[in-house]
Amino acid sequence: MRTHYCANIYETHIGETVTVAGWVSSRRDHGGLIFIDLRDKDEVVQLVCDPADNTTVHTLAEQVRDQFVLIATGKVRARGEGLENPRLKTGKIEIVVETLMIENRSKPMPFELGDEKVNEEIRLRYRYLELRTQKSYDIFKLRSKITIVARNSLDNLGFLEVETPILTKSTPEGARDYLVPSRVHHGEFYALPQSPQLFKQLLMVSGFDRYFQIAKCFRDEDLRADRQPEFTQIDVELSFCEMEDVILIAQTLIYDIFSSCGFEIPKQFDRMTYAEAMEKYGSDKPDMRYGLAMVDVIDIFERCDNEIFSNIAKTPKKNRIKALRVPNGDNIFSKRQMKSFEDYVRKFGAQGLGYFQMKEDGLKGPLAKFFSESDLQAIVDRCELEVGDAVFFGAGDKKLVWDYMGRFRIFLAETMEIIPQKVFKFLWVTDFPMFEVENGHIKALHHPFTQPKSLDYEDIEELESIAYDIVLNGVEMGGGSIRIHKEEMQSEIFKILGIGEEEAQEKFGFLLDALKYGAPPHGGFALGLDRLVMLMTGVSSIREVIAFPKTQKAQCLLTQAPSEVDEAQLKELGLRIRQLSAI
Ligand code: AMO
Repeated sequence: MRTHYCANIYETHIGETVTVAGWVSSRRDHGGLIFIDLRDKDEVVQLVCDPADNTTVHTLAEQVRDQFVLIATGKVRARGEGLENPRLKTGKIEIVVETLMIENRSKPMPFELGDEKVNEEIRLRYRYLELRTQKSYDIFKLRSKITIVARNSLDNLGFLEVETPILTKSTPEGARDYLVPSRVHHGEFYALPQSPQLFKQLLMVSGFDRYFQIAKCFRDEDLRADRQPEFTQIDVELSFCEMEDVILIAQTLIYDIFSSCGFEIPKQFDRMTYAEAMEKYGSDKPDMRYGLAMVDVIDIFERCDNEIFSNIAKTPKKNRIKALRVPNGDNIFSKRQMKSFEDYVRKFGAQGLGYFQMKEDGLKGPLAKFFSESDLQAIVDRCELEVGDAVFFGAGDKKLVWDYMGRFRIFLAETMEIIPQKVFKFLWVTDFPMFEVENGHIKALHHPFTQPKSLDYEDIEELESIAYDIVLNGVEMGGGSIRIHKEEMQSEIFKILGIGEEEAQEKFGFLLDALKYGAPPHGGFALGLDRLVMLMTGVSSIREVIAFPKTQKAQCLLTQAPSEVDEAQLKELGLRIRQLSAI
């Protein structure tokens, strides 16, 4: 219906007749002349309707309102002197309309398009209107580009794109499954995949060698700003590989994606072990755009006169005393502020938060009296303190201290506004523990198909695995591992996890069987596509980069899913709904 998209009309078209089509983004009636800003997918052009030229067009233009759908034909002319709009690609020209068609009308918008302060509920209910904005179009243009580049990059590396089932059996990635009842097999359910993990491993047994998929995954878990119940992974697996091979592939893919989208990033990313990340940054996904690393001071605190600290210091395997130096902190923060930080860490289980100020004449602060002069100096040296600095201390159980000091580090960086924007800091975190113990239960930290470095252990939590995560600006963007490819070891891991032989057969018998038929060594990774787009565009919520996202309560406000179904449908499925209180 059109001859040109708005963005493709330039000064070189002056004098030519063009047809444009799109939505009215604004209309101004100047008494005689009517000006209409017409927007198509990504640009606006100005239409001029002059009663002196064409009364039919002008009469129609009088009826036009915002977001009406128009098709307009007219002559391109230069805008008058001083009337140019430098914000538009088409700002030097306008179209004098000769024929105008009101293709469709529109009710007044339920909210002002592009106004991000409008309640999100309304924006999500009319998501198709919010997507009509330039900002949304740009996000989805980038998202589309990323998937195309990813496909090309992996194709160049010899990967085959294969689709795996959506109606499947549970894959344990740590979240709850979404279940789908079977009509044909009453009382039985499919599970939607939390990831294609097991199928990609089976494809390695099939000898496909290099697989990828842009895969939809489903996890019924608590939602946050960077989590959706339904999300997309760029999922990759390869055979006859070691961790270094997988890392090289992932870096090549990420480099291709970022550079094609106009961002300069290194070809190789920094690395850190899980243990170092936790000890220094209290997180397995540290944001490397800023410093604020912690140091250990447990040995110094062991000698102090404060029983709370010296008792904690007696069990250095279980406990930690960590110091977090804040350069210039004593000049930036008042004493009251420093004390108030204690309230922040208490929310995460801390007993308190000690601090020192580095003054001209040495370390001062409420804790100073418990230390000898030489130990105060030892703290200055260990933390590399300079006059004007502040240093904070967290003490207690190591996991608790890592957690609240890690959060405090982020809180400080945000409070001090020291986080550089528009910078991408990638980090590989490697050597994750194989297991974690939670309330006496042993759980796989990554997933139970990950290869442990060995199975010799005294303390099960100290066993390491060949698992790695890709962290970008403090967000886990992807993760993967080398897998177990021997049936005996896989059975052993299930045993450690408390999955009995019968249960293992029932849940994963197909995998255990497949491992008996010549499974090659293999490994892989998955990148969170939504998180990647979110980080690249700098938006604050994952919902903005998903066309039709769910709310924090996992609802689609547009379609009103989830919703009740007909009694007849339930009957056919052999289901009956009972009130929760009756169960
Ligand atoms: P993992 O569970 O670490 O690994 O997931 C890989 C990446 O997927 C993204 N992601 C999510 N994005 C949005 N919403 C969610 N709810 C969500 N959950 C995860 C993250 C994460 O890093 N099968 C393994 C991969 C492998 O071992 O190859 C897996 O799924 O960016």
